[in-house]
Order: sequence, then C-alpha cells, then structure tokens
Amino acid sequence: MKKTFYITTPIYYASGKPHIGHSFTTLYADVLARYQKIKGKDVFFSTGMDEHGSKIAQVAKDNKKEPQDFVDEVSEDYKKLWEALGIKYSDFIRTTSEKHKKSVYSLMKKLKESGDIYSDYYEGLYCVGCESFILERNLVDDLCPDHLTKPQKVKEKNYFFNLKKYLPSLKKIIENNELKIVPESRKNEILNIIDSDIDNFSITREQVKWGIPFPLDKSQTIYVWVEALMNYLTILDFPDGENYKKFWPANIQIVGAEINKFHSIFWPAILLAIKLPLPEKIFVHGLFTVNGQKMSKTLKNVINPFSMIDKFGKGSIGRDATRYLLLSQFSAFEHGDIKESEFITKYNSDLANGVGNLAERVFSMINKFKKGTVKNGKDIDKKIQEFLEQTEKEYEKNMENLNLFEALQCVFLFMKSIDKYIDSKKPWEMHKNKDKELDVVLNSVFFAVEKIAQWLEPFMPSKIEELKKHILEIEKGKIKPDFKLNLFPRIDV
Ligand code: MSP
Repeated sequence: MKKTFYITTPIYYASGKPHIGHSFTTLYADVLARYQKIKGKDVFFSTGMDEHGSKIAQVAKDNKKEPQDFVDEVSEDYKKLWEALGIKYSDFIRTTSEKHKKSVYSLMKKLKESGDIYSDYYEGLYCVGCESFILERNLVDDLCPDHLTKPQKVKEKNYFFNLKKYLPSLKKIIENNELKIVPESRKNEILNIIDSDIDNFSITREQVKWGIPFPLDKSQTIYVWVEALMNYLTILDFPDGENYKKFWPANIQIVGAEINKFHSIFWPAILLAIKLPLPEKIFVHGLFTVNGQKMSKTLKNVINPFSMIDKFGKGSIGRDATRYLLLSQFSAFEHGDIKESEFITKYNSDLANGVGNLAERVFSMINKFKKGTVKNGKDIDKKIQEFLEQTEKEYEKNMENLNLFEALQCVFLFMKSIDKYIDSKKPWEMHKNKDKELDVVLNSVFFAVEKIAQWLEPFMPSKIEELKKHILEIEKGKIKPDFKLNLFPRIDV
C-alpha cells in the first residue's frame, strides 16, 4: 500500500480578498504536496476558509451583506485564486458548511466527555482583529500591537477548557519531539509560553452570534478559533470518514508565525483531551513584509496576486512565474522581505535567461549538431555527474526539511554551472573540429536539463510539463528541426 501524506494550510478568514501572504502559505503547501506525490506518496492536501466570528460579521455588515452571502463571495475569490496559481488541493473546507458543523459536534461531544469543560465568567479585554482575548500587559499604548486597535471590554459567561491540566504532558511531548515544532526558534517560543503564565481558555462566546451554536448551551456559540482548528479533522469527515481513517494524524501543518500559539498549544491540548493522535510536525514559517513594510491597506502596498500573475504573462507563464518569485525571495525559517521592484529582474535572470534559456540552448545544439537526438543518456561527463549527485542530495535534504528557498538555490547554482560548462566546452567548435567528445558534452547537458526539470516540477508544474514534453521528443528523436523553445519570454523593462 502507498504511504500516505497529509499536509494542511491554515484556513483563511473570509473577511476580504486574498493577498500574497495567503498565497505564500498555500503555495508552500502545494509545492510540498506535489513533491511528496512525485515521491509516490498518497497525498491529501487541505485548505479552506474560516468563516465565523465577530470580525467577519462586522465586515459583512459594513458591506451591507448578510454574513453568509458575504463569506460565499469571499470563498469564491479564494478558490479562483488557487486555480489561477495552480494550487491542487484535495479538498476545500468551509466552516459554514454542514460537513464541518457535523464533525465539530462530534468533536465537542468528545471534549465534553473529557470532563475538562466548565462554565465561568470572563471579564477582560477582547481584540476583534485577533479574535482572541488579550491581556492588559500585552497592550502597547492601550492598543493591540498587531492590529493597532483598542480592545473591547467584555464580561460574559463562557465555557472554559482546562488547558492547564495538559500543559505538563504537552511540554514533554514538545521537548522530546513527539510533536515537532520547526524551526527550533518557534519550538522555544512555545516552550517559553508554556513556562510563563498561560491560562485556561474559553471555548464559547456569549456575545458572538455569527458562529456554530454550542450544543450544551444555546446561549453560546463555539469560539471561532476552536472550531477553526477542528477543520483539520472535519475536512477528513471525522469521525467515520475513510479519509480520516486514512490520513490522520497530519504529517505537516503549515502556519504563519503569528498563529503558532493556537496551533502548537491549544490545538494539541484539545487533541490530548479528546485522545486523538497529535500531528507529526508543525511548520511555522516567517511572515514577510513588502518593500520593508507590513502589508496594509492604508499603506497601499498590498500586492494583489491576480495582478501579479497577469503582469508576467498569460496562462501558465504568469502562474509559474508568480509561484517561483514568491517562493524564491527569502528563507521561510525567518521573517523576510519581498522586494517588488526586483520581481522583473529576477524573472528575467532566473526564468527567462536561466531555466528557459538553458533548455533552449541545449535543445538547439542537439538539433543543430546531432539532428535532434541524444546518443546515450548514460554517457555523462564525470564532473557533471558528481555535481549532479551532490545537488540532488542537497535538494532532497532541503525539500524534506521544508526549506524551499534553499532547495531552489541549489538547483539554480547547478544550472549556472551547466551554463559555464557549455561556455567552456564550446560545443559549436567541437562540432566544427569533429571532436569525439561532443556526444558526451551534449549528453551531459541534456541529462542536466532533465534533472533540473524534475527538481523544479513542484515549483512550476505547468511550464515543466511543457519542457518535459520536449525532452521526451528528443529522447524519441522526434523533435522538429526548426523547433524553438520559448518557456519564459524576456520582459523588457
Ligand atoms: N483564520 C485564521 C487561521 C485559522 S487556522 C485554524 C487566520 N487567518 S488569516 O486569514 O489571517 O491567515 C493567516 C495566515 O496567512 C498566516 O498564518 C500565514 O500563513 C498567511 N499570511 C498572511 N500574511 C502573511 C505574510 N505577510 N507573510 C506570510 N504569510 C502570511 O489567521
């Protein structure tokens, strides 16, 4: 039987249009899902929308829409974007769907059975932007530091989850890597929070009406974060679904740094309480700024992913260029910055002059000097073979370690060295001089292009599919003599 692999993205708030931040995480998961599929795994890749809570109810009202109509529209925007970016998810969960609600009820029932739910009064501050309570001492000038808004004072009856009971065992599980939190800095962040003064948290709201009714007390709705976290199980049709049986526990849950606490403390604690296996790994990626600044509507620096796709060309060119440009900017293990002004230069140097030009160069030499065929794929220059094996090892290591940025870097380093190899061997002179070594040189660079295609496939699937078609034509001796490859046309600045 095929080995399974389950990877998740956060579900995004249906409060507005998707931006390149959401695209980044979803692309990251898509590349890893495709990579695992190529490795032969049976992959489930989940994403979707977080559609309840007071923030969404408020935005819908501001737009003079019913909340359900509003989230229906936003969800469609996201789906359209995922299609435009070539995101191949297995299923798309929406928290207003019946499927989700049904599974959430089963999970809440189990949580109740744990005996760790009690009712009490909460009095304190609530930040609507975070959809979470916030402590006075975490405010900066009386404002939530993330949203720069004044939190509301609330006093209400809530049902609480006895988180504290699970903290000692959770701490051990994290320390001994039974639950891996990567990178290490994010694991330490969580261990510090556990060691400081984290409180039990409430799992219901009395004043939030736009939510799933709490089955034990109809005056309450389920706290939006609690039911949102449950999406990772509801999408698999917990508790009876075939997918649940097949894919849980998740192998990798990707989240942005700002929601680490929810995923690395609240979520595993809930799973411990309901006695379900914990995910294997939580990958917490850094957040990026754009041109050195946090993306915000007021600063007008929110990059619209649809415009970015269009800017680089029709169909698969814009799609794959955007995929590459977003993932090649910074190492996701840290926070990073995306420099919009460098996009076109990078497109030209890495895609047009890089991948596209190298393949074009190799194919046209094979056409000119060898009538479009390669002799023997195994007859490879030793030096190239060695560098190729070394690159392959590094690439695999980086992909397994979820380091897409570095995986790309080593492929591009290899690519540059192949270009240099061609410059130094000068196959056109070898051809003129009837040099016998020409076959080996062309075989080597052809094999190198084939490998590069294989490595880049998860990142730019449409363009690589096109490239692979031509590679196959050469292998079968069927490439047209006047063939011209124009994978990524240069963009004039
Ligand atoms: N709905 C919650 C998540 C619930 S998951 C059970 C939420 N939604 S969100 O719409 O705010 O999306 C946040 C996620 O979008 C981040 O965790 C991150 O994955 C992605 N990003 C949003 N802005 C980003 C950047 N500036 N940089 C990188 N990723 C970003 O939180």
